[in-house]
Amino acid sequence: MLPPDVLLGTATAAYQVEGAAAEDGRGPSIWDTFSHAPGRVLNGDTGDVACDHYHRWEADLDLMAELGVQAYRFSISWSRVLPTGRGAVNPRGLEFYDRLVDGLVARGIAPIATLYHWDLPQALEDAGGWTSRDTAYRFAEFAGVAAGALGDRVHTWLTLNEPWCAAFLGYAADVHAPGRDDPAAGLAAAHHMNLGHGLAVPELRRLSTGSPDVSATLNVHLVKPAPGASTEAVDRIDRVGNQVWLGPMLRGAYPAELFADTAAVTDWAFVHDGDERQARQPLDLLGLNYYLPMVVRMPGEGPADSPAHGIAGNPWPGSGHVEFIQPDGPTTAMGWAIDPDGLEELLVKMHADTGLPLMITENGAAFRDELVDGRVADGERIAFLEAHFAAASRAIERGVDLRGYLVWSLLDNFEWAFGYDRRFGIVHVDYETQVRTPKDSARWLAGQIAAGREQR
Ligand code: NOJ
Repeated sequence: MLPPDVLLGTATAAYQVEGAAAEDGRGPSIWDTFSHAPGRVLNGDTGDVACDHYHRWEADLDLMAELGVQAYRFSISWSRVLPTGRGAVNPRGLEFYDRLVDGLVARGIAPIATLYHWDLPQALEDAGGWTSRDTAYRFAEFAGVAAGALGDRVHTWLTLNEPWCAAFLGYAADVHAPGRDDPAAGLAAAHHMNLGHGLAVPELRRLSTGSPDVSATLNVHLVKPAPGASTEAVDRIDRVGNQVWLGPMLRGAYPAELFADTAAVTDWAFVHDGDERQARQPLDLLGLNYYLPMVVRMPGEGPADSPAHGIAGNPWPGSGHVEFIQPDGPTTAMGWAIDPDGLEELLVKMHADTGLPLMITENGAAFRDELVDGRVADGERIAFLEAHFAAASRAIERGVDLRGYLVWSLLDNFEWAFGYDRRFGIVHVDYETQVRTPKDSARWLAGQIAAGREQR
């Protein structure tokens, strides 16, 4: 069990759960465009309706209250609030989040708001998206609008969610929206996200009441060497996967080796004087999403018969030749290796490297759940969560200051390029009827929370 002072909660993101894609003045985002383009998302699924959370939020909050959830991480759809990404605020869009936050506070659930969970307003993409410097400034404006409206009740803000996915799966690997396959664009997007983060943090502080906790949420990759591998592949993937964010955000500089690794891709002319300093803002904690480790080697390293696998496209600008090895052992329905020790290792490492309090802003798993006679017996998910909770507890015993643990996800939802095919929820969603059924894992989480409450 986790110590009782670790906030236990759940997480979602706007495009994955809200639906109501064209309601109350919401403008289109890059995920609307991408999911409607033929062949982009499995089974042609879109977020048009998703879990219809936009209309069912009250019942969803009641369900969380019933489970005893202490914190809820949601994201704010930029194009609901600013339909073209800039200019006049759409009051009806903002009111949705106002009601949501009030509803959370009324139920004693701490709201944790993410500003960018991948749904860039399409109008900004049409002007270059994250490859354009202007987007960083528009992002800071959006941050100010959100904090001005909600910052009296939201005390934890996350600027960017997994910018690695947004920049590299989106602009370099053609796997996510906006569906570009240009590694130079990926690095430009990464830089403008770092800059956007650095511009947004002061806005969040300036326009919130009190002193909020502010951070970004990174999927810092736990990179391990494959059998027989040197450290070169690990170092390269650490640089383009992790230090590309941690460098500017925490130290105010990209590592020089990253420029060298990517010299054939870009000259980094998009980095202006002072940008790296701007990206470095004091943070109150670091949000981490953990799912799986990365096991890597350089071509020619390790036994010849161990096959390398990869994601379609290349989300590692400048390091596309590094090989990824599938470790032996069990996987989730995503094909991701299950490695709870990796979470312990990641937490200990990140605490040592940054000295910051940490929050697990996402951890969870997709399995092939079945609803049988009104019940989802998802023992595999419970075992997954139990093992990862135990790993986090060990990290705490080793000195990590862990503030929260948010399970991904509250609901089955739109799993990006996999559509509704992969289910991550602790609550089952029937997409025909929108009926919610808490899975056994939801009851398990409720039990953990109740046990912690008794200890306090
Ligand atoms: C991380 C992302 O933030 C979230 O949106 C996604 O659904 C989960 N990973 C699972 O892939």
